This record gives sequence, structure tokens and C-alpha cells, in this order.
Amino acid sequence: MSDSTQRTKVALVTGITGQDGSYLTELLLSKGYEVWGIIRRSSSFNTDRIDHLYQDPHEPNVRLHLRYGDLSDASSLLKIFAEAQPTEVYNLAAQSHVKVSFDIPEYTADVTGVGVVRILEAIRQLNLNTRFYQASSSELYGKVTETPQSETTPFWPRSPYACAKALGFYMTRNYRESYGMFAVNGILFNHESPRRGETFVTRKISRAAARISLGMQETLYLGNLDARRDWGFAGDYVEAMWRMLQVDDPDDFVIATGETHTVREFCELCFQEVGLPIEWKGSEANEVGLGPDGQVMIRIDPKYFRPAEVDLLLGDPSKARRLLNWSPTVMLDELAKMMVHSDLDLSKHEAIERGIATA
Ligand code: NAP
Ligand code: GDD
Repeated sequence: MSDSTQRTKVALVTGITGQDGSYLTELLLSKGYEVWGIIRRSSSFNTDRIDHLYQDPHEPNVRLHLRYGDLSDASSLLKIFAEAQPTEVYNLAAQSHVKVSFDIPEYTADVTGVGVVRILEAIRQLNLNTRFYQASSSELYGKVTETPQSETTPFWPRSPYACAKALGFYMTRNYRESYGMFAVNGILFNHESPRRGETFVTRKISRAAARISLGMQETLYLGNLDARRDWGFAGDYVEAMWRMLQVDDPDDFVIATGETHTVREFCELCFQEVGLPIEWKGSEANEVGLGPDGQVMIRIDPKYFRPAEVDLLLGDPSKARRLLNWSPTVMLDELAKMMVHSDLDLSKHEAIERGIATA
């Protein structure tokens, strides 16, 4: 067994190119860790979110190492884990889009679910003395049986994504109980940021608000406006992930703000921020969001409805507050402002590049 106390802390991060992977890597590097990240081959660059952290591997004292691998390929994981000899492993990689999981259920089950088993087996077979974090999700609560949801609330997964996450959750717990592994589940409620993927609802809204206000887009098409989520800031949530691996006893934790809001409210906050307060008219699929001049800014497109919806998520983060001394620093108003202003900057930059606007 490698001795984790005698050497630099070495973190291995799957999903390093994603929203959370980029914030976590910033945090770990700032704490002096050596970080190994798994990236996957793609036909175009997929490292935008971590390009600012890139270190030339030819230089001395490099602390960020990137390797090609895939959660569907056990051999790649074994090879990278053996090379990195991590003291902490953060499994953030997943097919993470709930709606898309209905289109590619088998792939989602393989990567988001069985991928966790491949990682746990790599750790076990290589006999690594490492701590393991699994990115579990509030989607597990699905058709909720109590509100707010805590570590003891039963799961009722409502999508192939959530079913795959359930496998990952229970496998992580099982390896802890079976092999005494330091393996924990962070049951994270939705968390967002300017780095959020553009097809998740918050970013889709903040980006559209910015672009509509700049005349670069006419209409935003959305699905269920009444879904409620407990939205926090990704930067806060990666701090909680790290804290979960620093405690004495491995355990599972809910990470949430303790507030819930509708998609409709998030629209109102973002459009207000760009000076376009919304007036809602009509109902159900015919509902529209009108701007100050009566222009239609938001329409419903039923293609964004899900075969089974998660109507209400609201987390109870009191265990994390008590045992991890963690609490959120950014609540929804500030989050919406942060995302809209970042999207305004990006859209203005794009407009200048496309010759639509001048600097
Ligand atoms: P994200 O932005 O979608 O990032 C997902 C990451 O996984 C990306 O780096 C992606 O690589 C990688 N990936 C996808 N398929 C892979 C495969 N087959 N092999 C290796 N890597 C693969 O997700 P996120 O928002 O950062 O979330 C991080 C984790 O937390 C995910 O597991 C997600 O399910 C979970 N989670 C997220 C939230 C949330 O609200 N954000 C809440 C609870 C749980 P590419 O960049 O190449 O696509
Ligand atoms: N994506 C999307 N696009 N969602 C929409 C839209 C739309 O046009 N219109 C309404 N919604 C509603 C969805 O139906 C859902 O109820 C809610 O907005 C949030 O959708 P997403 O932003 O796609 O996130 P999610 O809650 O399904 O899943 C995210 O959070 C989970 C944690 O609870 C993802 O990050 C998952 O990976 C994560 O586990």
C-alpha cells in the first residue's frame, strides 16, 4: 500500500473538463495538491474550462497532469490510477444531463452507473490507500417522499440518469462497508455557475437573457416553468466535496442551500437584471413571457418536457453544516446576477468577433 501521509497529496479527478471539475481543480491546486485529470478524446477541443490551469508537461514541477481515458474503459482507468497513485479520487465524470438520459439510457447506465464500479474496482485491485468521493445527486430523490430532503429521505429515481446514479451511490456505500474503503457520497443539489453547460436550464436562461437584451436572439424556448430546484453556486459545492474527504469517518452528506425556487423565478431574476422585466400571459403550453414592449421573449416548447419530471427539490444541509462546517456563500439572487453578467460579457465579445458590434 502507498503511504498517503508521507507524500504530497495527489488528487485524481474524473470529469475534470466539466463545470465542477474545473472549480475543484482550482481549489486543489491552490491547496498544494498534485492533480491528475482524466480527459476524453473529442473531435474538437473540450478543455476550455481548464485551459487557464494548463501546465506545460515539459516544464519542471508540473502539478497538473492530464491523461486520456474514459469511464467506459476499465483498462484506461487501471493504467491512469496505477500511474497517478492518488491519495484522493473525485469521480465527477458522468453523462450528466437528465433529459438526454432518456435518449441514451444504456450509455448513461454504463458511464454514470457502471463507471463508478470500474473506479471502485481499480482502487481495490491496485490496493490504493486512497479516499474516494462519488458525485451523487439530489435527482435520486425524484418523486420526493418528504420535504426537505435529507440523508435519510428514501430515493425514488425518475430518469435513467437517476437510476444510474443510484447504482453509483449504493456501490460506493457497499465498498465502504465491504472493504473498509474511505468512500463517500456527496448528495449534491443543483449547483450552477458561469461555467455551467449551456443546455442546463439556468445557463440556458442567463445566456438567453443576455443575448435577447443585446439583440442577438429573439426568443427563449423552455419546458416546465414550474419545476422547483434548490440552486447553489458550484464554487461553494466543490469546497464541500473536498471537506468530505478530510473528516475522520467516511459518511454521506447532502449539500444544498435550503431554499427552493421555480424555473419561472429564475427567468424573472435574469431578465430583470438585463432591464427586461417579464409579464407572463396565457397558461400551460401557450404561456408566454412578454418584455416591456409586449414582445414575446419566452415561449414553451413541449419537446423540453420530460417523460417523468422531478417537481420539487429542497435540501436540508444541516448535517454538512454540523460535521463539515460547510454552508453556502452564494444564494440565488447573486448567482443569477453572476451568470447574467458573465453571459453579457461573453455575448458582447462574440458580437465584436462576428462584426455585429464594435468595442
Ligand atoms: P458536467 O459539466 O456535465 O461535466 C461532466 C464531466 O464528465 C465532463 O468533464 C465530461 O467530459 C465527463 N465525462 C462524460 N462522459 C465521460 C466518460 N464516458 N468518460 C470520462 N469522462 C466523461 O457535469 P458537472 O455539472 O460538472 O457535474 C459533475 C458531476 O456531479 C457529474 O457526475 C454530475 O452528474 C454530478 N452532479 C452534478 C450536479 C449539478 O447540479 N451540477 C448536481 C449533482 C450531481 P467532456 O467535457 O469531454 O464532456
Ligand atoms: N435543461 C432544461 N432545459 N431544463 C428545463 C427547461 C429547458 O429548456 N425548461 C424547463 N426545465 C426544467 C427541467 O424540466 C427541470 O425540472 C429543471 O428545469 C432543471 O433542469 P436542468 O437544469 O436540466 O437540471 P436537472 O435538475 O434536470 O439536473 C441537474 O441537477 C441534478 C441535481 O439535482 C444536472 O446537473 C444533474 O446532473 C444533477 O444531478
